[in-house]
Amino acid sequence: MKKILITGVAGFIGYHVAKKLIKKNFKIIGIDNLNNYYDPKLKKERLHQIQKKIIFYKLNILNYNLLERIFKKHKPSIVINLAAQAGVRYSLTNPKSYISTNLTGFFNVIELSKIYNVKHFIFASSSSIYGLNKKLPFKETMKTDNVASIYGATKKSNELIAHSYSHIHNLPCTGLRYFTVYGPWGRPDMALFKFTKQIINQQKITVFNKGLMSRDFTYIDDITEYTYKILNKIPYKSNIPFQIFNLGNKKPIKILKFIKILENVLKKKARIKYLNFQKTEIKNTSSNTNLLYKTLKIKKVTPIKIGITNFVKWYKKYYKKI
Ligand SMILES: NC(=O)c1ccc[n+]([C@@H]2O[C@H](COP(=O)([O-])OP(=O)(O)OC[C@H]3O[C@@H](n4cnc5c(N)ncnc54)[C@H](O)[C@@H]3O)[C@@H](O)[C@H]2O)c1
Repeated sequence: MKKILITGVAGFIGYHVAKKLIKKNFKIIGIDNLNNYYDPKLKKERLHQIQKKIIFYKLNILNYNLLERIFKKHKPSIVINLAAQAGVRYSLTNPKSYISTNLTGFFNVIELSKIYNVKHFIFASSSSIYGLNKKLPFKETMKTDNVASIYGATKKSNELIAHSYSHIHNLPCTGLRYFTVYGPWGRPDMALFKFTKQIINQQKITVFNKGLMSRDFTYIDDITEYTYKILNKIPYKSNIPFQIFNLGNKKPIKILKFIKILENVLKKKARIKYLNFQKTEIKNTSSNTNLLYKTLKIKKVTPIKIGITNFVKWYKKYYKKI
């Protein structure tokens, strides 16, 4: 049975990926420091759903020595590094946490993956690295030298560091550029969660740039399916030791349209307060996913209405809202 180490396992994506891989009979070793960037209770409750089926360590990936003990003990064949300081806006006020976890923490995980002969190092990148590119849709081969946030800069650095490890040490690396992932058990700092909470509580929602921005919202089950296929199918004995994929939905949607769908699902009107454009934001994101479809030979595109409905159902049940 393949052993997979997942960092950030109590996070939104980590939890769902772990759940999927448990079903596929992989042995999961999970790491998370359960920090309080957002309500740790949500992280603990995600973990509670899977804890009996994985080996879990509450650990900061900045602690190299303790992390090494885990690599030494379990010798994972695959590592999925999802632990990071996420969120674009927060990087404006707290850049330091991005530099430590996303750079030093990332280094610790990839360095130990090299030392302990991991067969495949998979890591979270982000659509943020497309930065100020105006041409849509974003394609993996585009230049990504003009990121708009410290968060984007750390993700770009992760790709460069991984590339150098694959080149020098032959460590097979795959970077996943996630495009606005959403779904049940989602992150409270992200638009769908915030809007749902505020509309239900009859509070104003805040929308940047008159709602003229668009996002390529990608449903979490599509993400976990792609992740499973990537770790299962990509032939790493071959000569592709480094690969980057866009993990997107290919169907960007304007924020105001997104809000309309949410209003319909909630059967409640939103009250909107418009704010100016923030420099850290990308105006529009849109993914070209041809490489993903061609390589994995699957296409999974959950329609936004279904995804939002599933999220709202989860939210109402979890927070006991009718
Ligand atoms: N959700 C998205 O739309 C999205 C988009 C692009 C990229 N990403 C990336 O995907 C990954 C997962 O994102 P997510 O949405 O699940 O975020 P998340 O914040 O829910 O999950 C990250 C997890 O990592 C843990 N963590 C943070 N710092 C740590 C440290 N130093 N040591 C150990 N654990 C630590 C956190 O406690 C959290 O549980 C991140 O790398 C994020 O940057 C996410």
